[in-house]
Formats: sequence, structure tokens, C-alpha cells
Amino acid sequence: MSSESAFPIPRRRFLQAGAAFAAASFLPTGVSTGAGVDERRLTVAPGRAAMLGKGNPETDVWTYGGVFPGPLLRLRQGEPVRIVVENRLDEDTTVHWHGIRLPNAMDGVPGLTQPPIRPGESFVYEFTPPDAGTFWYHPHANSLEQLGRGLAGVLIVEEAKPVAVDRDLLWVLRDWRVTSEGQIASGFGNMMEAGMSGRVGNTITLNGTVPGDQPIRAGERVRLRLVNVSLARIMSLRFEGHAPVVIAIDGQPCEPHKPDGGRILLGPAMRIDLLIDMKGEPGGRYRVIDDFYEGLEYELTRLAYSDAVPVRTRFPEPTALPMNPLPEPDLSAAERHELILEGGMMSRMMGSGAMGRGMMEGMGGMMGVARAMWSINGTSMTGDGHADMPPLFTLARGKTHLITMRNRTAWWHPMHLHGFSFRVLTRNGVEVPHRQWADTVLMAPEDTVEAAFVADSPGDWMLHCHVTDHQMAGLMTVLRVRDAEQER
Ligand code: C2O
Ligand code: CU
Ligand code: CU
Repeated sequence: MSSESAFPIPRRRFLQAGAAFAAASFLPTGVSTGAGVDERRLTVAPGRAAMLGKGNPETDVWTYGGVFPGPLLRLRQGEPVRIVVENRLDEDTTVHWHGIRLPNAMDGVPGLTQPPIRPGESFVYEFTPPDAGTFWYHPHANSLEQLGRGLAGVLIVEEAKPVAVDRDLLWVLRDWRVTSEGQIASGFGNMMEAGMSGRVGNTITLNGTVPGDQPIRAGERVRLRLVNVSLARIMSLRFEGHAPVVIAIDGQPCEPHKPDGGRILLGPAMRIDLLIDMKGEPGGRYRVIDDFYEGLEYELTRLAYSDAVPVRTRFPEPTALPMNPLPEPDLSAAERHELILEGGMMSRMMGSGAMGRGMMEGMGGMMGVARAMWSINGTSMTGDGHADMPPLFTLARGKTHLITMRNRTAWWHPMHLHGFSFRVLTRNGVEVPHRQWADTVLMAPEDTVEAAFVADSPGDWMLHCHVTDHQMAGLMTVLRVRDAEQER
């Protein structure tokens, strides 16, 4: 199949930058686009970020809109938006709207759902977010380097009725591998890392800078949106002296609950919305600790209370967020599928010499990632989005699909499905409580997870590990959703 025929994309979406500028000089933005459509612009370009704080050099980064994190896009649930993305990098890019349920042609995977946006060109994304919640956006071309150099931003879809909290806070968390000169270290796609935990960095930022204290007023109730946009770092956060309540996972509301052991596990690409009642003492300092990696515990930041008297001393029960209009899986009629994750260092496969078929095929893969280290059902799809990504399964549209994922590796994997939110049903045979939906499920070594969703949206959808090195080195596949009568 030629890659051209796979793109039923109207020509008008695919503007030359020159043409866009010419049009802009005649028509102010908004006039040409028809009334009522919310239009945003995102420019992808190199920039500089003062992430290391005062007295340190600025870091060269790649940015959306000149800043890291990229502009916070606040959208309204059920209202159409048009986002014009202009590529001023020297290489192809795309934008993927992580977690948003949208038409396949807007999903931002080059070669699979759209042509790449070439340098100097633009692409117009149009969709209507059906779900309120915390989402994010990032490239899906050369992701290891593009995300690694700073291309990431957050997208908040607001609830129709504002949620009753005193403040709505956002912490965009990530790490970077920074040299002693304060620049981003090269060496993306190191095979050793690709077969282990991925490119974990040495410098953590919160909303784009090495974190200082977070100002807090005693007695306030805060909604805190956590987003981990790291390439590989998994976080496990503990709020000393506080009892956060999880109210949403990957943008989707769940039954409000205290996390196990008070720890909030946040793998790459995952989001957790918390409700935190600030019951600390005025003037107090409370540490927020990340202790995911054994022996590498560190203080992420501190909740720094002002001396002001508490806003309140009695707090109402936490209330659940309004549910989004997700189609409920019908488990009695579900079609079952199995995904087996294998590979990596210290795996069973390495010893047995049973390299998957695709492991060999994957060699000499895309984007300079030379070797497949991982596989799904024996096949390694390597690199980033590219032409000719054959689907592993075809899923009948409109049906419930129950997917069992088995992690037969010695490593953690945040497994992400594009285009859908799924119900996480069980983990290692134990029912997962609190009605949890997710688009990215973090799997510990040897974990088995069952998840279900209604395949209501046709197209080719990626499923991959969001440790970017793992994705590049083969932990990626494609699921095709289409009408049952189209099956042969
Ligand atoms: Cu954040 Cu392919 O996804
Ligand atoms: Cu995604
Ligand atoms: Cu992984």
C-alpha cells in the first residue's frame, strides 16, 4: 500500500507556511475560520529555558510557543477547537493529543494517521474534546529526542460546572539529562538504556524550573493536577503530613480514594488529579518526597504554609468529579485479546536465545534506533510513527474488547493506548477498585493487567510503552478498529 493512499486528509489542512502567512496578512485570525470556532496556534521551534534557576545558564530546548512546558491549552468540554501547528524545527514533527478521544485523522502519528509536518509547514488539528480532565500533548516523530528536548504541553478540558476547590494547581513534572554546562546531554537512543529503564535524567523540574517551595494557605482545599512528561522516570510521591485523595486518573474521574500507602505512582505520560486539604500548621513546611527508585529518594518540593490563619478548619467530604461520557464496556459480550510483552535486559528471552521474529526484522529500524530490544506478541515495531505499521489485531467496531497484557520482562512499562480510555479491571487476578479508567497503565515486572474498552472509534491506533526508549526499541504495536462487515 502506498503511504499516499492512506491519507484521506483534505488538502486545506496541509498549508505551506508561506501560504499561511500570506493569508494571515489579508485576514486577521478568526475571520477566515468561520464564527464560533476556538482557534489556537502552536509554533514548534527551538528556544531557551531558564530551567536551572538563577545564576545558571539557560538551556537550549525545543519548544511549543517558545516555552517549556508548552502553552497550557484550556479547552471546554464538548466545544470544537482548531489548533494550527507550525513546524519551525529542522525536522519533521506532529502533535499527539495524549488521552483525548478524537477522530483517528487527528491523532498525530506520522505515517499512520497523517503525513508528517515538514519543516516550514503547518497542520491544522480539529477536534471536540468529549471528556473533561487533565491531558497533554507531545510529538510523535523522533519522540525520544523531541520530547527529550522539551516538546510537551498540558491540555486541560474544563468541566461544564467548576469543581468546588479553592485553587486548581498544575504540576508538570519531568526530568532532564543535563550536562555540567547546563545543556541537554546528547546520546539519545543508547541501546543499553533502551534495554533497561530508559533515559532517566539527573535534573527534575516542576512547571519548567528546578522546584523551590510551593506557597500554601492553611485550610484551603486544592485540586492538584500531576502530569509526568518524563521520557522514562517513574515517580512515587508522598506528601508528608497530608492525605491526598485521588479524584481522577489519566483525566478520567474515579471514586475518590486515598492511594495505597499514601504513595502516588506516576509513570511517564500518566496524570493523577488529587484533592488535598491543607491541614498543616500555618508557617509549616512539609516535604513532598519521590522515593520510586530504591536508594535514590529525594525531596521534590515542599508545601510552604504562610502564617495566615486557616481558611477553614472543617472540610467537607471529598466529592467525586462528574463522570465523562465514556461508553461502558459490556463484559458479558467482550472479545478477548492477549498482549505479551517480552525482551529487555535480564529477560527470559535473552537466556533462551528465543529472539522474536520481529526482533530480527526490527533491526535497522527507524530514526537511528538500530536494534529491537522488546517485542509484543513476538513482533518488534521500532522507531516512532512511520509508514507501513501493520495492525496486530483488527477489533470489531462498537464491541467491547478485553485485553490481557502480560509483562514478561524484568522492567516497568507504562502501557498506553491511543484514542480510548479503558477500564482497568484486574491486576494479577485481583480486582482493581474505585472504577479506574486510564489511557496509560503502569505495569510492574511480571504484572498481568486486564483492561476493557468499547472500540467505538474506527482507525489504526497505536499501543506502546511510554518509556520512550522502550517504544523506539520495539515495545509498540497498532490496533485497527473497523466495522465488522468490513472484515473479510
Ligand atoms: Cu503520549 Cu503515543 O503517546
Ligand atoms: Cu496517546
Ligand atoms: Cu517500557
